[in-house]
Amino acid sequence: MFRHPIEIAPSLLSADLANLAAEVRKVKQAGASVLHFDVMDGHFVPNISLGVPVLASLRKATTLTLDVHLMIERPGEYIEAFAKAGADRILVHQEATVHLDRVLAQIRDLKVESGAVINPATPVATLTEVLDRVDTVLVMSVNPGFGGQTFIPGAFNKIRELKELRSRYNYAFRIEVDGGVDIDNVADLVRAGAETLVAGTAIFKTPDPGAAFRQMRSLAHEPLTQKV
Ligand code: DX5
Ligand code: ZN
Repeated sequence: MFRHPIEIAPSLLSADLANLAAEVRKVKQAGASVLHFDVMDGHFVPNISLGVPVLASLRKATTLTLDVHLMIERPGEYIEAFAKAGADRILVHQEATVHLDRVLAQIRDLKVESGAVINPATPVATLTEVLDRVDTVLVMSVNPGFGGQTFIPGAFNKIRELKELRSRYNYAFRIEVDGGVDIDNVADLVRAGAETLVAGTAIFKTPDPGAAFRQMRSLAHEPLTQKV
């Protein structure tokens, strides 16, 4: 059975945005390989965050994998811009488009890894028809829009369900979780099947983001080294 490597993906939403390059350096030096980049439009979610120009600047400053989470309406209209700005992965919400299959195809056609995202109230079953052609499924464990919210435990069952579907049908997607991930739940999330663990507050809102990253990574790897 294949296994995706475990990734801790620091979410830049909680970083000091006036010192983005320095913040990236801290987690890169600690061993981060992926950065999570949250895009909000003030419509799909009640907040506005980062967009195309910031992503393009970040792309010039780092070679790390950029995991771009689009929390926007009409995502199809912006895929090309985010791809050109340097996204390595583009994740779109199932709830944000009635043409999820088309938008995922747009992403793939631009040679970018594609991902589908579900909100806490959205069941895994809404993704059944696309699971064979996405690189990532992202389970939201908070209602999107803000960093620093409390983890919603319903995400655990969705992660288990995705893992089970993947092994039953031999799919290849990786399982990602975003929202309220911290040192207390990270190991259990890995046990359930999560492979990419997004963490904003738990990394950047600490005095030493590099140390917080390393602690979280070591906790995330614990379940994999335990003997059964
Ligand atoms: C929430 C964003 C998250 C956010 C997570 O809408 O999608 O990526 O940055 O932040 P924490 O880890 O603080 O919950
Ligand atoms: Zn996110």
